Amino acid sequence: MRQKPSPPAAAAGRLGVVVVGAGSLSTSFIAGVLAVRRGLGKAIGALTQLGLLAGPPECPSPVPVGQAVPLSSLNDLAFGVWDILPDSVYRAAVKARVLDRELLDELRDELDAIRPWKGIFDPRYVHRIQATHCRPRQGHRANVAEIDRDLGFFRESAGIERMVLLNAASTEAYQGIEEIHSDLKLFERALGADDERISPAMLYSYAALRQRIPVVNLTPSHAVDIPALLQLSEEMKVPVAGRDLKTGQTLLKTILAPGLKARVLGIAGWYSTNILGNRDGEVLDDPQCLKSKEESKLAALKGILEPDLFPELYGDLVHRVRIDYYPPRGDNKESWDNIDIVGWLGYPMQIKIDFLCRDSILAAPLALDLTLLADLAARSGLRGAQDWLSLYFKNPTVKNGRQVHDLLAQRQMWEDELHRIAGWKPNGARGA
Ligand SMILES: NC(=O)c1ccc[n+]([C@@H]2O[C@H](COP(=O)([O-])OP(=O)(O)OC[C@H]3O[C@@H](n4cnc5c(N)ncnc54)[C@H](O)[C@@H]3O)[C@@H](O)[C@H]2O)c1
Repeated sequence: MRQKPSPPAAAAGRLGVVVVGAGSLSTSFIAGVLAVRRGLGKAIGALTQLGLLAGPPECPSPVPVGQAVPLSSLNDLAFGVWDILPDSVYRAAVKARVLDRELLDELRDELDAIRPWKGIFDPRYVHRIQATHCRPRQGHRANVAEIDRDLGFFRESAGIERMVLLNAASTEAYQGIEEIHSDLKLFERALGADDERISPAMLYSYAALRQRIPVVNLTPSHAVDIPALLQLSEEMKVPVAGRDLKTGQTLLKTILAPGLKARVLGIAGWYSTNILGNRDGEVLDDPQCLKSKEESKLAALKGILEPDLFPELYGDLVHRVRIDYYPPRGDNKESWDNIDIVGWLGYPMQIKIDFLCRDSILAAPLALDLTLLADLAARSGLRGAQDWLSLYFKNPTVKNGRQVHDLLAQRQMWEDELHRIAGWKPNGARGA
């Protein structure tokens, strides 16, 4: 049964945002928040800052999200990061080449002050980065204790009231879900035995959950979404969300496919290819890491098109996704889609999309929304996978295994849950 939110506690005090990985995505997010705070830019793409919700039944005019539910103020966010490279957030942002140097220089003091804690590194999961700033290789339990210490230190030194952990580290080599991931007891036993099927992303998530810190997985790696950790999130009464931010090509796919289906147009094939030249692309150049990304990119279409219900339209759909590392483009990636659609009497047609996007510019506002909404969910007593946050992900982690990919359906779930948290009737229940 769906969990009922309780009236959210006030968003008082500092909210610590602890981020695993200080790369293109997280530095664009952190620098962006600081820039918005100082009036140097607008939070475009962040629903918590610019979105509207339908008002309560007695006054249905749209209201800003932050008026409907109590969100933490951007001024109350404090940032901590882990990385396996020693660069401060300023240095890492300069190297990422997403934001203009001029803007970064205006924010330099604040960004330079955010120095990464040493990361938990396992070369079996990321092969393409030479880690120079990591904890010595030691057992899983010792690693968890190190993460606990960093969290405790941050809480004390920055005067933190509540925290949210975001996983924004490099995509890890594909690790399927096996028996040890399926149950908390088995997972903890495997933890004690230093089982190599437990990845760093799982360790960070485990440590945070035990401290009742909400965890959001922005990457395709299996982390907080494994059944053992979902079980822990339910037991510890902590909300979690993931996996892999829906930013460029998949965002367009989940806007377009529901539209074609709404008009019962057939789709014979959907071929998607991408080039990207940032470090994420370099890591994905490793076939094992690419497998994690491909799995999450392929998830959407089947869920939307329901070939079982529409075998004549989508039963034979061929879906291919390619990603190529192409350094000259940096973070400004380009994606092409060729969609072979089928109309009246089976006549074929084609749609071509060429999307020149900026990956981290699309991702940063989602990281902000997820930080504020995961904290809101925690203050509203919600726990476990938060299906209503599916809007943000390529491969949403959900409670009953039934994913929704259609962007407008996801947006409705998002709005309905915010109405419930606000104590209003959801839209669909109006007048009932
Ligand atoms: N950039 C985007 O817009 C975007 C969009 C959707 C999803 N993602 C996903 O988010 C993740 C980060 O993307 P990015 O573009 O910032 O990549 P990036 O390569 O720029 O940054 C990743 C950072 O993680 C660090 N890291 C690697 N292993 C670590 C560990 N064990 N502990 C601590 N730090 C570690 C790396 O040193 C690096 O600084 C990737 O999985 C990517 O697929 C990114």
